[in-house]
Amino acid sequence: MKRSGVTRAGAADVSTGSPAAKVNAATDEAGAAVDALNGVFGVHKGARPVHAKGRVLTGVFAASPYAESLSAAPHFQAGGRVPVTVRFSNFAGIPAIGDNDDLASPRGMAIKFKLADGSETDIVAHSFNGFPAATTAEFRDLLAALGASKADAPKPTPLDKFLASHPIAKAFLTAAKPNPVSYATLPYFGVNSFRFTSEEEKTVVARYQILPVAGEHYLDDVAAKAASQSYLSDEIQKRIADGRITFRLVAQIATPDDKIEDPSIAWPSDRKTVELGTISLSTYAGDDAANPDLVFMPNAVPDGIEPADPMITDRAAVYAVSFARRRPS
Ligand code: HEM
Repeated sequence: MKRSGVTRAGAADVSTGSPAAKVNAATDEAGAAVDALNGVFGVHKGARPVHAKGRVLTGVFAASPYAESLSAAPHFQAGGRVPVTVRFSNFAGIPAIGDNDDLASPRGMAIKFKLADGSETDIVAHSFNGFPAATTAEFRDLLAALGASKADAPKPTPLDKFLASHPIAKAFLTAAKPNPVSYATLPYFGVNSFRFTSEEEKTVVARYQILPVAGEHYLDDVAAKAASQSYLSDEIQKRIADGRITFRLVAQIATPDDKIEDPSIAWPSDRKTVELGTISLSTYAGDDAANPDLVFMPNAVPDGIEPADPMITDRAAVYAVSFARRRPS
């Protein structure tokens, strides 16, 4: 098996021109994606253009005995325990978004595993098993339509037109958005596919699921309306002060029938899953102001894991530009 170390930010796949032109074009495209998100949510200095409100916790990941059968990645080897940093977030690129606002959903869970050799590997997931767009280009079109469809836009708006021809995006945007009791009572889904290779060179394609050991629990409508704008941020601090927060990390394995490169389509729930291990959080590490240098890269993977969906590399290029723009100078 190759040993190339952990991948950092990648570049979008641009297939024409010189190497320098490719890098510039990829950076331009990534910058345009950040601009498009800003067009939807506004520019908020120092904040992420999406998933702007977050809270950070730390703890430990312990590998299950089954994880190494899937991947040779160091944190998946039997008996492995590595420190993790987790950021829970609300969807919108609005740092002051109310925790019970519709735009707070889907919630995010980003995980950073700190490997023994000093490198890091990340998972960036959200609480919806799917995505509004099949490809990066389609997502860009959706953002452009959203940005051009403010309240005073003439009907049908660009968003109306987009949704009329994109039923999956429409289902995503109009899906019921129940408010969770806690960030710790929601399942999270990696959505993009990765290829996992074991030491024995056995390969499968899988998607991450991060499942709450506390179970899935939601507020009813009355409780959600009565909840404070910061109920999730307050709750997670109280919950961690009272004890550990635990999630199971699971890999859902693709069959030959499943679409690998299309995160808008969830795979059937009867697909085989493999337990990768347990994420056990024990310490509250503050808000975004306390963690200005924290960034998660969807393509930061060690040997034994590879992106199997081109959106992962595209995302990483966008996240790198976003981080460069938002970090304190
Ligand atoms: C082409 C598609 C996508 C684009 C352009 C995009 C863009 C972004 C950007 C610009 C950020 C802020 C990064 C930073 O400043 O650190 C971000 C964060 C985030 N995205 Fe995406 N994203 C995409 C797909 C997805 C998908 C498929 C998911 C769900 C699995 C997702 C979940 C998240 C989460 C949870 C965060 C917050 C990460 C954190 O806590 O730092 N995104 N996204």
